[in-house]
Amino acid sequence: MSLESALDEYPKEIRLRDGLNVRMRPLEPDDHAAFHRFFTALPAPELLYIKHRVTEAEVVRAWCESIDLGRNLPLLAWDGDNIIGVCTLHQSLGGWKRHIGRVSVHVHPLFRGRGLAQAMVAEIVNVARACSLEKLEAEFIGTQNGAIKVFGLIGFGELARIPAYVKDMQAITHDYVLMGLDLLTDDEFAGMG
Ligand SMILES: CC(C)(COP(=O)(O)OP(=O)(O)OC[C@H]1O[C@@H](n2cnc3c(N)ncnc32)[C@H](O)[C@@H]1OP(=O)(O)O)[C@@H](O)C(=O)NCCC(=O)NCCS
Repeated sequence: MSLESALDEYPKEIRLRDGLNVRMRPLEPDDHAAFHRFFTALPAPELLYIKHRVTEAEVVRAWCESIDLGRNLPLLAWDGDNIIGVCTLHQSLGGWKRHIGRVSVHVHPLFRGRGLAQAMVAEIVNVARACSLEKLEAEFIGTQNGAIKVFGLIGFGELARIPAYVKDMQAITHDYVLMGLDLLTDDEFAGMG
Protein backbone atom coordinates (compact mmCIF):
# COMPACT_ATOMS: atom_id res chain seq x y z
CA MET A 1 0.00 0.00 0.00
CA SER A 2 1.03 3.59 -0.51
CA LEU A 3 -0.23 7.04 0.44
CA GLU A 4 -1.92 7.30 -2.99
CA SER A 5 -3.88 4.08 -2.58
CA ALA A 6 -4.81 5.00 1.02
CA LEU A 7 -6.14 8.34 -0.23
CA ASP A 8 -8.24 6.58 -2.88
CA GLU A 9 -10.62 5.70 -0.03
CA TYR A 10 -11.64 9.35 0.33
CA PRO A 11 -14.10 10.98 0.44
CA LYS A 12 -15.49 8.52 2.93
CA GLU A 13 -18.62 8.68 5.12
CA ILE A 14 -18.54 7.56 8.71
CA ARG A 15 -21.41 7.46 11.17
CA LEU A 16 -20.83 8.79 14.67
CA ARG A 17 -22.43 7.03 17.62
CA ASP A 18 -25.20 9.64 17.85
CA GLY A 19 -26.12 8.93 14.21
CA LEU A 20 -24.48 11.98 12.60
CA ASN A 21 -22.99 11.15 9.18
CA VAL A 22 -19.62 12.80 8.67
CA ARG A 23 -17.70 13.03 5.40
CA MET A 24 -13.92 12.72 5.63
CA ARG A 25 -11.39 13.78 3.03
CA PRO A 26 -7.97 15.44 2.82
CA LEU A 27 -7.57 19.23 2.61
CA GLU A 28 -8.05 20.81 -0.84
CA PRO A 29 -6.99 24.29 -2.08
CA ASP A 30 -10.56 25.66 -2.07
CA ASP A 31 -11.07 24.77 1.60
CA HIS A 32 -9.30 27.86 2.97
CA ALA A 33 -12.43 29.78 4.03
CA ALA A 34 -14.06 26.79 5.75
CA PHE A 35 -10.74 25.83 7.35
CA HIS A 36 -10.23 29.35 8.69
CA ARG A 37 -13.84 29.38 10.00
CA PHE A 38 -13.11 26.13 11.82
CA PHE A 39 -10.11 27.56 13.64
CA THR A 40 -11.94 30.75 14.63
CA ALA A 41 -14.54 28.55 16.38
CA LEU A 42 -11.93 27.10 18.75
CA PRO A 43 -11.94 28.59 22.27
CA ALA A 44 -9.22 31.19 22.85
CA PRO A 45 -7.39 29.16 25.54
CA GLU A 46 -6.93 26.28 23.07
CA LEU A 47 -5.47 28.58 20.43
CA LEU A 48 -2.61 29.35 22.82
CA TYR A 49 -1.38 25.77 22.41
CA ILE A 50 -1.40 25.72 18.60
CA LYS A 51 2.01 26.41 17.13
CA HIS A 52 0.72 28.56 14.24
CA ARG A 53 -1.47 31.68 14.14
CA VAL A 54 -4.41 29.82 12.67
CA THR A 55 -6.98 32.57 13.23
CA GLU A 56 -5.15 34.67 10.63
CA ALA A 57 -6.85 33.99 7.29
CA GLU A 58 -3.57 34.47 5.42
CA VAL A 59 -1.84 31.72 7.39
CA VAL A 60 -4.60 29.24 6.51
CA ARG A 61 -4.76 30.42 2.89
CA ALA A 62 -1.00 29.89 2.54
CA TRP A 63 -1.37 26.31 3.82
CA CYS A 64 -4.10 25.66 1.26
CA GLU A 65 -1.92 27.05 -1.53
CA SER A 66 0.98 24.75 -0.74
CA ILE A 67 -0.64 21.42 0.04
CA ASP A 68 1.85 18.55 0.14
CA LEU A 69 -0.06 15.56 1.53
CA GLY A 70 3.10 13.44 1.71
CA ARG A 71 4.49 15.90 4.22
CA ASN A 72 1.35 17.25 5.95
CA LEU A 73 -1.93 15.44 5.53
CA PRO A 74 -4.85 17.26 7.16
CA LEU A 75 -7.81 14.88 7.13
CA LEU A 76 -10.97 16.96 7.45
CA ALA A 77 -14.33 15.89 8.84
CA TRP A 78 -17.28 17.72 7.26
CA ASP A 79 -20.87 18.24 8.35
CA GLY A 80 -22.37 19.72 5.19
CA ASP A 81 -20.27 22.75 4.26
CA ASN A 82 -18.66 23.03 7.66
CA ILE A 83 -15.43 21.49 8.86
CA ILE A 84 -16.05 19.93 12.27
CA GLY A 85 -12.72 18.22 12.86
CA VAL A 86 -9.18 17.96 11.55
CA CYS A 87 -6.61 15.28 12.20
CA THR A 88 -3.19 15.86 10.66
CA LEU A 89 -0.41 13.40 9.84
CA HIS A 90 3.01 15.07 9.58
CA GLN A 91 5.89 13.18 7.98
CA SER A 92 9.59 14.11 7.98
CA LEU A 93 10.45 12.48 4.60
CA GLY A 94 14.09 12.17 5.62
CA GLY A 95 16.39 12.34 8.58
CA TRP A 96 16.36 10.33 11.76
CA LYS A 97 12.60 10.62 12.26
CA ARG A 98 11.66 9.51 8.74
CA HIS A 99 9.95 6.36 10.09
CA ILE A 100 7.88 8.33 12.63
CA GLY A 101 4.70 10.23 11.80
CA ARG A 102 3.30 12.94 14.08
CA VAL A 103 -0.42 13.24 14.66
CA SER A 104 -2.55 16.11 15.95
CA VAL A 105 -6.32 16.43 16.21
CA HIS A 106 -8.85 19.19 16.83
CA VAL A 107 -12.62 18.92 16.99
CA HIS A 108 -15.14 21.78 16.71
CA PRO A 109 -16.46 22.54 20.22
CA LEU A 110 -20.07 21.82 19.19
CA PHE A 111 -19.16 18.35 17.94
CA ARG A 112 -17.13 17.03 20.89
CA GLY A 113 -18.00 14.00 22.97
CA ARG A 114 -19.42 12.05 20.02
CA GLY A 115 -16.37 9.92 19.21
CA LEU A 116 -15.17 12.10 16.32
CA ALA A 117 -11.57 12.54 17.55
CA GLN A 118 -11.26 8.85 18.20
CA ALA A 119 -12.61 8.03 14.72
CA MET A 120 -10.29 10.52 13.01
CA VAL A 121 -7.15 9.37 14.81
CA ALA A 122 -8.05 5.77 13.96
CA GLU A 123 -8.34 6.80 10.26
CA ILE A 124 -4.95 8.50 10.36
CA VAL A 125 -3.38 5.42 11.98
CA ASN A 126 -4.56 3.40 8.97
CA VAL A 127 -3.17 5.99 6.53
CA ALA A 128 0.16 5.99 8.41
CA ARG A 129 0.35 2.21 8.19
CA ALA A 130 -0.31 2.43 4.45
CA CYS A 131 2.60 4.90 4.20
CA SER A 132 4.84 2.23 5.82
CA LEU A 133 5.54 4.42 8.82
CA GLU A 134 6.77 2.38 11.78
CA LYS A 135 5.72 4.65 14.61
CA LEU A 136 3.40 7.52 15.39
CA GLU A 137 3.93 10.21 17.99
CA ALA A 138 1.77 12.97 19.40
CA GLU A 139 2.83 15.95 21.51
CA PHE A 140 0.83 17.59 24.25
CA ILE A 141 1.14 20.05 27.03
CA GLY A 142 0.44 18.48 30.42
CA THR A 143 -3.01 20.07 30.82
CA GLN A 144 -4.46 18.54 27.61
CA ASN A 145 -5.97 15.68 29.59
CA GLY A 146 -8.88 15.06 27.22
CA ALA A 147 -6.58 14.69 24.24
CA ILE A 148 -4.16 12.49 26.17
CA LYS A 149 -7.10 10.24 27.04
CA VAL A 150 -8.27 10.02 23.40
CA PHE A 151 -4.82 8.95 22.21
CA GLY A 152 -4.53 6.50 25.11
CA LEU A 153 -7.78 4.84 24.00
CA ILE A 154 -6.34 4.38 20.50
CA GLY A 155 -3.29 2.62 22.00
CA PHE A 156 -0.74 5.43 22.33
CA GLY A 157 1.41 5.23 25.46
CA GLU A 158 3.29 7.98 27.28
CA LEU A 159 6.93 8.03 26.11
CA ALA A 160 8.13 11.07 28.02
CA ARG A 161 6.88 13.76 30.34
CA ILE A 162 9.21 16.69 30.97
CA PRO A 163 8.11 19.13 33.69
CA ALA A 164 7.89 22.86 32.88
CA TYR A 165 9.51 22.40 29.46
CA VAL A 166 7.37 24.21 26.85
CA LYS A 167 5.77 27.64 26.62
CA ASP A 168 2.38 28.48 25.15
CA MET A 169 1.74 31.53 22.95
CA GLN A 170 1.44 33.66 26.13
CA ALA A 171 4.86 32.44 27.29
CA ILE A 172 3.38 30.43 30.15
CA THR A 173 5.40 27.31 30.95
CA HIS A 174 3.84 23.83 30.84
CA ASP A 175 4.85 20.18 31.11
CA TYR A 176 5.65 18.51 27.77
CA VAL A 177 4.11 15.10 27.10
CA LEU A 178 5.17 12.83 24.24
CA MET A 179 2.98 9.84 23.39
CA GLY A 180 3.77 7.11 20.88
CA LEU A 181 2.31 4.12 19.05
CA ASP A 182 4.17 1.29 17.31
CA LEU A 183 2.53 0.48 13.98
CA LEU A 184 2.10 -3.01 12.59
CA THR A 185 2.95 -3.45 8.92
CA ASP A 186 0.04 -4.28 6.58
CA ASP A 187 1.20 -7.95 6.57
CA GLU A 188 1.37 -8.12 10.37
CA PHE A 189 -1.99 -6.36 10.58
CA ALA A 190 -3.61 -8.79 8.09
CA GLY A 191 -2.18 -11.76 10.03
CA MET A 192 -3.96 -10.65 13.19
CA GLY A 193 -7.42 -11.41 11.83
C1 LIG B 1 -9.36 16.47 22.69
C2 LIG B 1 -10.38 16.53 21.56
C3 LIG B 1 -9.68 16.32 20.23
C4 LIG B 1 -11.42 15.39 21.81
O1 LIG B 1 -12.37 15.39 20.74
P1 LIG B 1 -13.73 14.57 20.85
O2 LIG B 1 -14.25 14.35 19.47
O3 LIG B 1 -14.63 15.21 21.82
O4 LIG B 1 -13.22 13.19 21.47
P2 LIG B 1 -14.01 11.81 21.41
O5 LIG B 1 -15.47 12.06 21.51
O6 LIG B 1 -13.52 10.98 20.28
O7 LIG B 1 -13.50 11.19 22.78
C5 LIG B 1 -13.12 9.85 22.90
C6 LIG B 1 -12.93 9.55 24.38
O8 LIG B 1 -11.87 10.34 24.90
C7 LIG B 1 -12.21 10.81 26.21
N1 LIG B 1 -12.27 12.28 26.20
C8 LIG B 1 -12.42 13.11 25.15
N2 LIG B 1 -12.38 14.39 25.54
C9 LIG B 1 -12.21 14.37 26.88
C10 LIG B 1 -12.10 15.37 27.89
N3 LIG B 1 -12.13 16.69 27.57
N4 LIG B 1 -11.91 14.99 29.15
C11 LIG B 1 -11.87 13.69 29.48
N5 LIG B 1 -11.98 12.68 28.58
C12 LIG B 1 -12.14 13.01 27.32
C13 LIG B 1 -13.51 10.18 26.56
O9 LIG B 1 -13.22 8.97 27.24
C14 LIG B 1 -14.12 9.88 25.23
O10 LIG B 1 -14.94 8.75 25.25
P3 LIG B 1 -16.44 8.87 25.77
O11 LIG B 1 -17.07 10.00 25.01
O12 LIG B 1 -17.01 7.53 25.44
O13 LIG B 1 -16.35 9.12 27.22
C15 LIG B 1 -11.16 17.87 21.56
O14 LIG B 1 -11.64 18.12 22.86
C16 LIG B 1 -10.29 19.03 21.11
O15 LIG B 1 -10.27 19.36 19.93
N6 LIG B 1 -9.58 19.64 22.06
C17 LIG B 1 -8.70 20.74 21.79
C18 LIG B 1 -7.51 20.37 20.94
C19 LIG B 1 -6.54 19.38 21.56
O16 LIG B 1 -6.31 19.35 22.76
N7 LIG B 1 -5.96 18.59 20.66
C20 LIG B 1 -4.94 17.65 21.01
C21 LIG B 1 -3.61 18.17 20.62
S1 LIG B 1 -2.89 17.07 19.45
